[in-house]
Amino acid sequence: MIVGVPREIKDHESRVGITPAGVKALCEAGHTVLVETQAGEESGFPDETYQNAGAEIVGDAGYVWGKSGMVVKVKEPIEPEYAYFREGLVLFTYLHLAPLPELTDKLLEARMICIAYETVRDERGTLPLLTPMSEIAGRMSVQVGANYLERESGGRGILLGGVPGVPPAHVAILGGGIVGTNAARIALGLGAKTTLIDVNLNRLRELDDIFNGRLYTLASNSYNLEHVTRESDLIIGGVLIPGATAPKLVTRAMVAQMKKGAVIVDVAIDQGGCVETAHPTTFSAPSYVVDDVVHYCVTNMPGAVPHTSTLALTNATFPYVLRLAHHGPREALKRDPGLTEGLNTWQGTLTHRGVAQSQQRPWTAADGVLA
Ligand SMILES: NC(=O)c1ccc[n+]([C@@H]2O[C@H](COP(=O)([O-])OP(=O)(O)OC[C@H]3O[C@@H](n4cnc5c(N)ncnc54)[C@H](O)[C@@H]3O)[C@@H](O)[C@H]2O)c1
Repeated sequence: MIVGVPREIKDHESRVGITPAGVKALCEAGHTVLVETQAGEESGFPDETYQNAGAEIVGDAGYVWGKSGMVVKVKEPIEPEYAYFREGLVLFTYLHLAPLPELTDKLLEARMICIAYETVRDERGTLPLLTPMSEIAGRMSVQVGANYLERESGGRGILLGGVPGVPPAHVAILGGGIVGTNAARIALGLGAKTTLIDVNLNRLRELDDIFNGRLYTLASNSYNLEHVTRESDLIIGGVLIPGATAPKLVTRAMVAQMKKGAVIVDVAIDQGGCVETAHPTTFSAPSYVVDDVVHYCVTNMPGAVPHTSTLALTNATFPYVLRLAHHGPREALKRDPGLTEGLNTWQGTLTHRGVAQSQQRPWTAADGVLA
């Protein structure tokens, strides 16, 4: 198969769909890889690293899309890329189609085969191509919070780990899933007093075990939340109710009670945020202050570390890329029910229930089109 890797053109997107390691593996398996010039530059992979791995570097995005049987990207295509759509072309990328009816129309009209990273499931039913980004955002959240706690950044001038004779900062983590667990690992590693709150008591039991009692765990209720927000120097929001807007666990009144110069990093902001005073921000203006509390609510935190993010993402996506190239889309999908859950469009048919329901369109289950 000819596999194409275009340069991402969405604003502030610095990741790339395949690394030189992936190119090498594809070439060794007998495939051809076309990489648009500079596609990996911002992730720390210059053209020559792709060339040395066996890729052909191409100056023109249209050529990459036009010659490939499968295009591997990071973000959903945007308008200038619509012209490259054509029948039977496989597109493997984050798509997030539910709120994008126009893109859905274009992909269906062009009869593309689109597999969306965010809906692929593994044998345990989890979302393996979303997990790496939550791991990164969770680990980053403490690092970012520690910076904002510095006086120069508007924080209360407190060192996360304290020093001998001076107590450490108190970090409260809301949600003990992937983001929360990774945040806890870093906060404890830096020596902070760390409390994690979740509604799922079994998850709290597991975390108590994993962190050997060093993590304070608390059941999620408004009494505990009120107490913890008053005491905390840094709050990390990492709750998720799948498919729903995040619950507002920290109310405006609780924020008003927080210490002056405390910091909130609401990672769950991409689902609306779990803090009432949080609103989405970007890297150009990542933070703002409400009631003397610094808020950081960037919706795509992994974008700050594209080298790590590209490696983490492609570690998870690449085994699927190899199988799609090797078997072709129909056979690869038939062999893997979890990958089939990622199929959003198949040659003019919408195949994802969630997208269909959000856009109130007809759909056909993937099994129906693959038979
Ligand atoms: N901002 C970013 O750049 C970025 C990056 C990655 C992930 N995220 C977002 O971070 C959020 C968390 O992701 P995740 O992968 O850790 O999800 P997850 O499903 O692994 O974990 C969510 C946790 O929240 C808990 N929870 C649900 N309701 C709760 C409540 N009322 N009180 C306390 N805990 C509650 C669940 O029990 C679960 O343990 C998601 O919204 C995700 O989209 C944002």
